[in-house]
Amino acid sequence: MNTPLLGINIDHVATLRQARGTSYPSVVQAAQIAEASGADLITVHLREDRRHIQDADIPELQAVIKTRMNLELGVTPAMLDFAMRQMPADVCLVPERRQELTTEGGLDVVANQATIKQACRTLQDAGIRVSLFIDPDSEQILAARDCGAQVIELHTGDYANQSSNSDALERIRQAAEQASHLGLVVNAGHGLTLDNAAPVAAIEQIVEFNIGHAIVARSVFVGLAEAVREMKALLIASRGN
Ligand code: PXP
Repeated sequence: MNTPLLGINIDHVATLRQARGTSYPSVVQAAQIAEASGADLITVHLREDRRHIQDADIPELQAVIKTRMNLELGVTPAMLDFAMRQMPADVCLVPERRQELTTEGGLDVVANQATIKQACRTLQDAGIRVSLFIDPDSEQILAARDCGAQVIELHTGDYANQSSNSDALERIRQAAEQASHLGLVVNAGHGLTLDNAAPVAAIEQIVEFNIGHAIVARSVFVGLAEAVREMKALLIASRGN
């Protein structure tokens, strides 16, 4: 059994902070608690509209994180420059539309191959590992490979949003198999909760899960440390079966 890794996305700790313009809750403290409770990495999304994570959070987090940072960014020259100044271990390139509630759908690598390939090269030349957040779709996987990305993150939102989600789960399973066969590291995330993560966690090709909203929401009732521990235990138990 390969042990699944858990990336804790702490964006929504910042959402709570930004709602009042206060200095609390601290994303630095959230990262430290998450790491002490079993997080294998810390994920943050610096959105163009800065609705949650702010620029200054990134160096502050970089100074304390003991695991590694996975920085999610839209594919723009300003964001790539920012990443190269901050040097996170990983950058996950994501699509971004300002009005969306969250990241709806994966990057269209097929339609934007030249730009994304160049972005992968720029970040990789600086020593940053690049992941592309894509839908579980064969053409997108091939395009990601052709762009030279080392990693893909499969968007699990379709699966998470459906009440009958067996087709969506099968698409994730097939995509994970295809991508892993092509030599890509396969991660997954979006919309995963204690109620729906187990079948995805059972897919052995998936190395890492990035989970945020459900864990931060659950932490209101059980605390962040317990919410992280519960999810980590669920991922490990699901992989073992
Ligand atoms: N992975 C990526 C690439 C994302 O954009 C997000 C949301 O920011 C997540 C994972 C986490 O999704 P959720 O907050 O729904 O767990």
